[in-house]
Amino acid sequence: MKIRVIHGPNLNTLGSRETAIYGRLTLTDINLSLVELGRSLGAEVTYFQSNGEGQLIDHIHSLPGEADGVVINAGAYTHTSVGIRDALLAVRIPFVEVHLSNVFAREPFRHASYLSDRAVGVVVGFGPDSYVLGLRGMVDFLRMQGAGGVSPA
Ligand code: DQA
Repeated sequence: MKIRVIHGPNLNTLGSRETAIYGRLTLTDINLSLVELGRSLGAEVTYFQSNGEGQLIDHIHSLPGEADGVVINAGAYTHTSVGIRDALLAVRIPFVEVHLSNVFAREPFRHASYLSDRAVGVVVGFGPDSYVLGLRGMVDFLRMQGAGGVSPA
């Protein structure tokens, strides 16, 4: 089972960025812990980060055959990008949406997501553990579907 973790804009600055909201772990810390967790769950976890919407879309287009499931924190693009939504739907790979912060306890523009209604599940507000919970959820979902299963949508 292969799972790609995708991080959107500004997440490369974790560790120094607004630490009261996002904490002190770096993206490398998070990625390495997810690879380890994946190994213990029998999943091969790989990761990708970009600040560019087009690069994220191109990357999603490259996933068929490379990933059975996606865990995505699209960052600010969550709230703005029809293109990332359409790319995820085009490749028909199931995805879990995660956010470090509780977006619903923040500014109103963060309450809207172009991804949530098509996600297998959404995890918000647990800091880096949002990724951990999202990965566990994705692994369980794929196990139920049989690895390589496609989104019911
Ligand atoms: C975020 C929440 C978004 O609103 C914000 O733009 C981010 C990070 C989170 O993980 O809490 O960049 O996705």
